[in-house]
Amino acid sequence: MVYLTKKMHFSASHRLYNPLLNEEENLKLFKKCANKNGHGHNFTLEVTVCGEINPKTGYLIDLKELKEIININVIELLDHSNLNIDIDFFKNVIPTSENIALFAWKALENKIPNAKLYKIKIAESETSAVEYYGN
Ligand code: NI
Repeated sequence: MVYLTKKMHFSASHRLYNPLLNEEENLKLFKKCANKNGHGHNFTLEVTVCGEINPKTGYLIDLKELKEIININVIELLDHSNLNIDIDFFKNVIPTSENIALFAWKALENKIPNAKLYKIKIAESETSAVEYYGN
């Protein structure tokens, strides 16, 4: 079994806000992240897949093919978007890195031929990241 990771980037804005709480509670909980007009990040997405090496190619999966799958299913949707407004998934889900990882998992699960999705990693800065393994 081998593991292969593709790292990609997207830029998006978001606002952390729980509609079940009032304005004051949201500001207390999320601080500046709850500011009305949102703020942006340059996110890093890492997708790790695993499986057996194909003896014909020596590859697990062609990296170009994996990049294209991630592009179509995640990057093109999220890049330069306002996550809260543009992405249906976040209509009722707070667009934290944690939930973006869930979104990416759902978007890529079962989309990768000859390999299994193993891990999604989302980082909104160099010093912090979320990892999701599908459960
Ligand atoms: Ni943020």
